[in-house]
Amino acid sequence: MVKHLLIFLFAAFLVLVSTAEQKDCTFPRYKSNDKRKKGEDQIELLKGRRYQFEDKYYKYHVGICTDAMDPYPEDKKDVWTDAAVIQINKTNSEDAHVIGKITEADIIAGPDWVMLEYNNGEKYGTHCEGQDGNNENRRAKIMFICDHTVDDGEPYIIEEQNGKTESCYYLFGFDTQVVCKTTTPKVTVKSGLSVGSVLLIVFVCVAGVYLLAGLLYNRFVVHAKGIEQIPNLSFWRDFGNLQADGCDLVCRSGRSREPRTYKGIGDDQLGEDEPITSDEHLLPM
Ligand SMILES: *[C@@H]1O[C@H](CO)[C@@H](O)[C@H](O)[C@H]1NC(C)=O
Repeated sequence: MVKHLLIFLFAAFLVLVSTAEQKDCTFPRYKSNDKRKKGEDQIELLKGRRYQFEDKYYKYHVGICTDAMDPYPEDKKDVWTDAAVIQINKTNSEDAHVIGKITEADIIAGPDWVMLEYNNGEKYGTHCEGQDGNNENRRAKIMFICDHTVDDGEPYIIEEQNGKTESCYYLFGFDTQVVCKTTTPKVTVKSGLSVGSVLLIVFVCVAGVYLLAGLLYNRFVVHAKGIEQIPNLSFWRDFGNLQADGCDLVCRSGRSREPRTYKGIGDDQLGEDEPITSDEHLLPM
């Protein structure tokens, strides 16, 4: 009894700890919660996930309403607090930037897509000077797009738009069936075999077993030799003959040649001994 209680307490403690650790997006720019609720509900299943991927020059760490990394490197703990997207130069890990924060999120939702934005990343150095001449903060947009063929999916970089004077952004794509309006028509990868091919396989198997068993029986029990080992040989011979007869009847055109009622040029030279053509009597004598 005490043991059970202890286990229960331990489990409760674990749950408490893990939920306490779980951060979430905060949306400081919304006046009411229900405006963004729909989008949040649509990506609910992906919340708390972390992803890592790279393009040619950079490695990206992305968290969906959670820290981009867990844990952070010791020396980055302070700088990267609440970072949702981190970009790291592949050849120089010191060259790293926070692209956006989970404490500065925005969300827009359509019927089968959601755009999650993380704002207030590190300032651009030389790009995107903004209206007031101060360089802008980096920000990330993650575009969740319904794709029934992808179970959970993962983010990928679409573009780093820093060729503008303001409103620069990093755009990520995220194809997933999670944001689809209905998840029912999910296209499972076709199992590959149609009814026809299953029947064919069954037929081939049965035929193979029949042939093998018959062969073994004829060879070792009946002590047949050569072609006589084929099971039910006489039946199959008859069967073949029957088929041939049937085919003969249906496929062959038969021997009844119509007599030729005309004469072609050169027929004379062929030396054919044809009788007088039948329309001869029509000619006036
Ligand atoms: C990454 O870091 C290397 C070494 O510091 C630098 O030469 C390179 O330009 C950086 N790459 C990008 C894309 O900034």
